[in-house]
Amino acid sequence: MSRAPKILVFDSGLGGLTVFAEVTRLRPDARIIYAADDAGFPYGALSEEALIARVLSVVQRLIARYAPDAVIIACNTAATLVLPHLRAQFSQTPFIGTVPAIKPAASQSRSKLISVLATPGTVARDYTRDLVRAYAADCQVTLVGSSALAGLAEAFMQGESPSQEAIWREIAPSFVARDGRRTDCIVLACTHYPLLIEHFVHLAPWPVQWIDPAPAIARRTDYVLSEDLGFRRVSAQAPEASNHALFTGPSAPGPKLAEALRARGIEKISMEPMPLVFA
Ligand code: DGL
Repeated sequence: MSRAPKILVFDSGLGGLTVFAEVTRLRPDARIIYAADDAGFPYGALSEEALIARVLSVVQRLIARYAPDAVIIACNTAATLVLPHLRAQFSQTPFIGTVPAIKPAASQSRSKLISVLATPGTVARDYTRDLVRAYAADCQVTLVGSSALAGLAEAFMQGESPSQEAIWREIAPSFVARDGRRTDCIVLACTHYPLLIEHFVHLAPWPVQWIDPAPAIARRTDYVLSEDLGFRRVSAQAPEASNHALFTGPSAPGPKLAEALRARGIEKISMEPMPLVFA
């Protein structure tokens, strides 16, 4: 293929930017449409039924409009539930998901005490529990569902400085000391969390490995583009490969967020209001 590949990176908000950053590093030739479904945020609070309906309808509109070559669901809360539905409904489009990195955490852990920090939705999923059974049977796994962290990460990206107490309250249950052992790996199973990583590292009572799946998702995306779709990797940005962020909420991003997006290589910002309605 001689044209630039077009990728849709989808999340409920700004968390998918952590995946976007890795994908642009590996595939600077790709044109990326970053879609933040901020009208639906936070996904962690939606019922499974509402979340499936919401993601299917927003992705349907985005695929119809942008015809991406591949779609990255850069959201654990959505991917652990909606991926099979998306693949069934849009069978011509390759989907790359983001799911809790429990397997690498279990294999890297020496203390065999690992924690999974995620939204309440992701923590409750059968998908997550199956990953624990399949890959972390030799570990003691603490699942920590946080209702507040994704919102704190959103506010941080809008220029607010987050309360250290509020962050600590959410991450504290991830640090477990038992029988002379301590948690040594914490899975960042929500794409919003790496946005707050400096705060996590600063607040941690002892050093741990924070497992961010974004580099692995970027490698998988590169594989799909190169091997499955025939887009040869080129190291320079194609002239038409400008990146674009769109938001489904009613209000445009403030100046601080627009600046943060520009710093990440996103110049164009647009609004496509898609209000969240419950049947
Ligand atoms: N970024 C999403 C994830 O990876 C969750 C944020 C939300 O609750 O919408 O799970």
